Amino acid sequence: MLNVTKAVFPIAGLGTRFLPATKASAKEMLPIVDKPLIQYAVEEAIAAGITEMIFVTGRSKRAVEDHFDKSYEIEAELEMRGKTQLLDIVRSIKPSHIDCFYVRQPEALGLGHAVLCAEKMVGNHPFAVMLADDLLEGDPPVMKQMIEVFDHYHSSVLGVEIIAPEDSTSYGVVAGKEWEESIIKLSGIVEKPEPNVAPSNLGVVGRYILKPRIFEHLRRIKPGAGSELQLTDAIQSLLADEQVLAYNYRGRRFDCGSKLGYLKATVEFALRHPEVAQEFGAWLESRWSSAQAKA
Ligand code: G1P
Repeated sequence: MLNVTKAVFPIAGLGTRFLPATKASAKEMLPIVDKPLIQYAVEEAIAAGITEMIFVTGRSKRAVEDHFDKSYEIEAELEMRGKTQLLDIVRSIKPSHIDCFYVRQPEALGLGHAVLCAEKMVGNHPFAVMLADDLLEGDPPVMKQMIEVFDHYHSSVLGVEIIAPEDSTSYGVVAGKEWEESIIKLSGIVEKPEPNVAPSNLGVVGRYILKPRIFEHLRRIKPGAGSELQLTDAIQSLLADEQVLAYNYRGRRFDCGSKLGYLKATVEFALRHPEVAQEFGAWLESRWSSAQAKA
């Protein structure tokens, strides 16, 4: 049986929704409290048993490479100052059994094109695609849940959740029949449909496990929604060859590709962070009470 050991992280997007913060750095480097989004995604992959991280990078994305590389200066400084806890945090960013690879996407031509750029590194294996701006929490972690589904059915699996009908224009939306609890056998998928033509209320979140045949279809597709080469269109095309499943994962998602979702994640994670939770919680409460008193 083939194990999923590789994950592709497309990080070459322009991140225009977070300008000016993303002018010279990847949106995936934005921190939620003190950890960049990309690290949350890599940790989710590691928890799922994935050992090879393939980053599809673009211009101004070098911070990601540096983040997963050894930093002699920081480590030497922390060692000298006896800051062992911070030293452990810095050293654990990339555990020694994990390998990181980088491939450039020369132009931001869309998610489908980004995944195609990773073809040579992925080879003839099933692989995960993880969009780090979707911050997912689950127990077990969502990618681990999805790998269990993949191991059972040996089909490509898309992570989905129920979305509000008016939000269909932000998602790949799937059509299909529930096969078993939380498992939908796909009959179609459309990128960012208008609500009146959306085939269901199940939207794809940024987690995919794909069989390598997807590459044939990625090579064939034409620009779709937003004039971009869409992964969604290649999945629709793949359906002619093989079964694809959607999996309504157990867990919670923060859409950190939007300012509002990013702020919600920041507040939620701050309220659980051992260093700041108590004081931040108290401040938030007093802030809320004074806002209510004024209202
Ligand atoms: C991408 C995909 C879309 C998916 C979404 C999840 O869109 O194209 O199908 O539903 O990620 O976050 P983007 O958010 O990059 O526009």
